[in-house]
Amino acid sequence: MLINATTPMDQARSELAATYELAPSMTAAKDTADRYARVSRIIPEVDWAGFAPYIRAIERLKAERDAVILAHNYMTPEIFHGVADFAGDSLQLAIEATKVPNQVIIQCGVHFMAETSKILNPKKTVLIPDSRAGCSLASSITAKDVEGMRAQYPGAKVVSYVNTTAEVKAASDICCTSANALEVVEAMPGDTVIMTPDGFLARNIAAQSTKRIVWWEGTCMVHERFTPEELRAYREANPGIVIIAHPECPPDVIEEADFSGSTSGMIGWVRKNKPAKVVMVTECSMSDNVAAELPETEFIRPCNICPHMKRITLENILWSLHTMTEEVTVKKEYLEPARAAVEAMIALKERKH
Ligand code: 13P
Ligand code: SF4
Repeated sequence: MLINATTPMDQARSELAATYELAPSMTAAKDTADRYARVSRIIPEVDWAGFAPYIRAIERLKAERDAVILAHNYMTPEIFHGVADFAGDSLQLAIEATKVPNQVIIQCGVHFMAETSKILNPKKTVLIPDSRAGCSLASSITAKDVEGMRAQYPGAKVVSYVNTTAEVKAASDICCTSANALEVVEAMPGDTVIMTPDGFLARNIAAQSTKRIVWWEGTCMVHERFTPEELRAYREANPGIVIIAHPECPPDVIEEADFSGSTSGMIGWVRKNKPAKVVMVTECSMSDNVAAELPETEFIRPCNICPHMKRITLENILWSLHTMTEEVTVKKEYLEPARAAVEAMIALKERKH
């Protein structure tokens, strides 16, 4: 039997190769030398010669399509430093999405982030290079589950992490991110606040909050795997090391850390304090992206990879711009209430600063 081995990916690759000059090229590397200067410490020149033709083609198409690339801090260095117009944590990306003048937003991150951009920009075209880029937190809860919690704790406000679907945001009173969760929870009326869907983030906030917090038991598949024993072993092996951790980690891991903050909070902390040795207890690309600019800091890496974030590549960003796919849509019935929950969070930040 003859097997047809041509997959849609192979077809996409052939079409891209026929349309753009994508072979590794030192000329393309020279054309993108300004971007390479940012990552020359962590990406060998020969690898950059492979990335550069894609970066050049993406740059050209971005201008033609009036597109902007919003990238999460977990993107790989060639995306973070090579093609992103703006990189940040979930809160920064949500705020930036309200400010960009472009008609097309390419969201380099996971699906809930692209949905958040669409919720805030319903008239714009929001594309995600791979719509399978999900999130274990976002898939852990439904709007029905939120209603169940409301019934269990009558009158309590629902604060949902932005790592949720539009449907769940629509069923919530307000959103939060890891950068503002405590501030949002404290701003809620009443003694009891429901936090969804991250049980560890909720426990970590409960340890600092004046409120009684009840939560949904979702977890991040990346951060739940870190253990305090692992962190202690890194301290023993590296005297003087500074440990900074994302608040999606279990509470006993956060207790072992010297600082905890959102992805941008962690990056900002390292930039400001320039420790001699640091471990960023989070997704692997974070250390790469910061190491690129901080030669004096040694990064020890017990990191975990987010398979969802890693679905986004230069190749599928180019494909996305070439074909104007995959378009992110949000059901009409969720659009307004989800927007209200995200905007309530942004308004809180703007009132404070
Ligand atoms: P930040 O909001 O801190 O960027 O976190 C988002 C995320 O998905 C971390 O796993
Ligand atoms: Fe979701 Fe965790 Fe991946 Fe962040 S790192 S996108 S929370 S699965």
